[in-house]
Amino acid sequence: MKLGIVGATGEVGRKMLKVLEEYKIEPDELHLFASERSEGKEMLFNGQKLKVKKLTKEALKEKYDYFLFSAGASVSREFAPIAAKNGATVIDNSSAFRMVSNIPLVVPEINSHLLRNYRGIIANPNCSTIQMVLSLYKLHERYGIKEIIVSTYQSASGAGYKGISELIEQTRGSREKRIFPKQILYNVIPLIGNIEENGFTQEEMKMVNETRKILGDPTITVFPTTVRVPVIYGHSESIFVRFKREYENLTQVREVVASGENVKVVDEIVTPLDVEDSDITFVCRLRAFDKSSILFWNVADNIRVGAATNAIRILIKHMKLNGVI
Ligand SMILES: NC(=O)c1ccc[n+]([C@@H]2O[C@H](COP(=O)([O-])OP(=O)(O)OC[C@H]3O[C@@H](n4cnc5c(N)ncnc54)[C@H](OP(=O)(O)O)[C@@H]3O)[C@@H](O)[C@H]2O)c1
Repeated sequence: MKLGIVGATGEVGRKMLKVLEEYKIEPDELHLFASERSEGKEMLFNGQKLKVKKLTKEALKEKYDYFLFSAGASVSREFAPIAAKNGATVIDNSSAFRMVSNIPLVVPEINSHLLRNYRGIIANPNCSTIQMVLSLYKLHERYGIKEIIVSTYQSASGAGYKGISELIEQTRGSREKRIFPKQILYNVIPLIGNIEENGFTQEEMKMVNETRKILGDPTITVFPTTVRVPVIYGHSESIFVRFKREYENLTQVREVVASGENVKVVDEIVTPLDVEDSDITFVCRLRAFDKSSILFWNVADNIRVGAATNAIRILIKHMKLNGVI
């Protein structure tokens, strides 16, 4: 299997290499791409040094089986269709193709059936959406979700390696703002992405639209507020859900949530520091006042669950469902 990673030097790209190693995926050929800035840089994969190449249209004309794209929406828009046209299956982490109707938006635990006999571009959802739908999909099957009210507490790494640098530099006295619209150190910022005409931000609208697409239900109402917090890795979410059908009791709800693949419901308090480098979405503080709604806290590693691991899980599922392994 010949695999290319575009954006290999970024937060998500580097984690993809680590997850590939951990999941023992050993491509016959692995090629790493990034911008001109990183050309010639060496990265390690399974103890072997690989040189990063500059992404060019020419390079994509070679025959690849798979590409993992993680270099932002404009790079994906320009280059992913070329890779797909030349025969590669492209798993794209950016927002470029997520809402294109004939492109599958996949969280493998939920809708991997879309991958069977599929070739072309596959979209990886937004990080906040992935960890939320993972804790909700079994509840939706059982009780039917009517409404979701969610507030996120998103880490600096959600804005890539430059977001992390800005937070770290501010701990050393800098007050420069290149990535975040306000000082992030000692602060919280209720704005991720630009504000759209309806008053919601781009990040919030991703949660609305992607949740409906993944759960296959355009009637679900989602009210999100997305907030940046001075945490390096790990997104947290406070999630309120109202159902169409009543549940018996919270023990039953807990069992339903926990029946989701790669989801754990725990009694203790879970924080971003507790979940760093984990591939599990954690749910805690499950509580309610009645039998038709619940409130809970959800935490996951945004770079793994929200990006790299989801992409590698798509890769593995796609290979299995299409006879590659
Ligand atoms: N961070 C998250 O939590 C998260 C979660 C889900 C999805 N995503 C998505 O994943 C993508 C990458 O995110 P990230 O956090 O890894 O960002 P990042 O740390 O800023 O890394 C960006 C990567 O893209 C490369 N790149 C930038 N411009 C390029 C160009 N013109 N041609 C080729 N490569 C280029 C960079 O290469 P250089 O090193 O050469 O600059 C770097 O490898 C984004 O689309 C993001 O929305 C991120």
